[in-house]
Amino acid sequence: MKRTHHCNALREAELGQRVRLIGWIQSIRDHGGLMFIDLRDREGVTQIVCDPNGENFRETSPLLKEESVVEIAGKVCLRPEDARNERMVTGVIEVLAEELIIHNIAETLPFPIHEKSDKVSEDLRLTYRYLDLRRSKNLARLRLRHQITRAVRQFLDQEDFIEIETPVLFKTTPEGAREFLVPSRLNPGNFYALTQSPQQYKQMLMVAGVERYYSLARCFRDEDLRADRQQEFTQIDLEMSFIDREDMYELVEGMLSKVWETALGIPLKLPFRHMTFREAMDNYGSDKPDTRWDFPIRDISEVFRNSSFKVFRNCLEEGGVIKAINMKGLADITQGELQHCEEVARSLGAKGLAYRKYEEGIGKSPIEKFFSEEEKKALAELLEVEEGDIVFFAANRWEKACTILGRIRLEAIELLLKRQKIVRDSTRFDFLWVVDFPLMTYDEEQGRYLATHHPFTAPLPEDESQLWEKPECVRGQHYDIVLNGVELGGGSIRVHRPELQRRIFQEVLQIPEEVVENRFGYMIRAFRYGAPPHGGIALGLDRMVAMLAGTESIRDVIAFPKTQSGQELMTASPTPVSEKQLQDLWIASVAEAKK
Ligand code: AMO
Ligand code: AMP
Repeated sequence: MKRTHHCNALREAELGQRVRLIGWIQSIRDHGGLMFIDLRDREGVTQIVCDPNGENFRETSPLLKEESVVEIAGKVCLRPEDARNERMVTGVIEVLAEELIIHNIAETLPFPIHEKSDKVSEDLRLTYRYLDLRRSKNLARLRLRHQITRAVRQFLDQEDFIEIETPVLFKTTPEGAREFLVPSRLNPGNFYALTQSPQQYKQMLMVAGVERYYSLARCFRDEDLRADRQQEFTQIDLEMSFIDREDMYELVEGMLSKVWETALGIPLKLPFRHMTFREAMDNYGSDKPDTRWDFPIRDISEVFRNSSFKVFRNCLEEGGVIKAINMKGLADITQGELQHCEEVARSLGAKGLAYRKYEEGIGKSPIEKFFSEEEKKALAELLEVEEGDIVFFAANRWEKACTILGRIRLEAIELLLKRQKIVRDSTRFDFLWVVDFPLMTYDEEQGRYLATHHPFTAPLPEDESQLWEKPECVRGQHYDIVLNGVELGGGSIRVHRPELQRRIFQEVLQIPEEVVENRFGYMIRAFRYGAPPHGGIALGLDRMVAMLAGTESIRDVIAFPKTQSGQELMTASPTPVSEKQLQDLWIASVAEAKK
């Protein structure tokens, strides 16, 4: 059972050779006296011809069905001129079968393999994922993922990184995302948590003197799933000692450039643009702005200082802002689309979504009567309004007003794409470093500050002195890498001074001393025994591969992904467990606990 060639390999050069191919029957066409089989393996397809009444095939050929696995030996022949297929790399030849071995007869499949995948429901495809993956497009995505990780490994190896595995069974760290808990049989009543990321371990590797660590790390977060979120996903995780933010930018840009060259054959324009969190929010209403499109958000508070529209005036008097965005060319928005936009705005806490359309030379708005001539003129100038435009308004606290219009901007961009007033350029990759995030964010619900990213992020040195009085004014040495509006990765320069780290936990985050000792005591201790300045980053591998594969959903680039409800349909996990299993793990079943 040794093949001589893969199914993509044969050309005119092999004419007359005796070859042996093995693979899946993609299709069978019976033309009376002749039978044509498209034989597929992972590399491609070759046409096989056999005589179904011939001595070697009389008994076997009636058994053949699509997707059966067969082995064929025969001679490479030229196809008749009119039977050549230019779209197949092997389209000039065919193999005249002399021998046929059936390895496995396939039953009728739950869905055809060469059908376009979007015609088959995703649930059905995932239940039979091994069939779904036979489709060349899906196999190509797994291959792309492999090529990308290989390029990453090569690049980081050249840059003197050491690949190190860290534990997946970690301890619980309730500050971050929701965790998966794992009961410890050997320690009754105690639990591990699956790592959300190797964050603490990689920092300890820096204290250990590793200097440059990386890992393609599996991470586990019990989150609600979306197209760009899975419960288990992979990070390109790295950490370096003795670096500043600029070193990190250069390294990651070099790595991404190599990846893009490997995957698409195009080098990236370096260095990437930088934008502060404040600028990103102000102009795009998002900390991961999609800069492929213009449509900037503007602050128009000054125009409406004395507005007769009470909503606007009150908002300003209460210290809020008025922001507006001109979605050029979208004045033909339908009533239904407007309603949808308003619902989106409301879901983000807006009381409404005022707008003004510019059609037939006049402005039209539900609040038209409130605009003075002066205000109309100022609006038109500030927002560069032309016939056919629509302007949306948000009156709210700064961050909320930005966020609301940021989402409306994205909704409106989709509407303009649908109308083909703008077009998506699939070769455009707008990379961006977003920097100068606030280190802490005040949490209204808990009445205390929380780390915007994680509590190990170092403050900007020039802001550090304000950490104890005005934490909200302190910027962190955090950086996010954003691509076409998607957060591809994030990281920071870390705290490495034990006193600073302890005070951040206790005084800023207000975590009680004993809790700090329990959870992070080892870390603060480690920083007392010679800790190098260090920093790192983690990039979402699944998101990166999805973008390079040109697909929206990371499920498409994961071999066995989970559905929205967290199920892996092929093996049907998760499942209930037996009473005995629970007992072994010192866990009471629901029935038991009720007694
Ligand atoms: P963070 O939590 O920002 O940082 O994660 C880094 C990147 O991982 C990707 N990502 C995800 N991808 C798929 N599904 C998910 N559920 C998911 N969650 C995150 C994103 C994200 O940008 N330890 C820090 C990094 C550091 O400081 O070095 C961390 O984990 O692309
Ligand atoms: P109202 O006076 O509440 O009827 O609102 C008049 C218009 O302004 C409606 O179109 C509302 O959707 C809109 N609107 C109300 N509050 C706001 C706000 N905070 N920001 C923007 N538009 C608003």
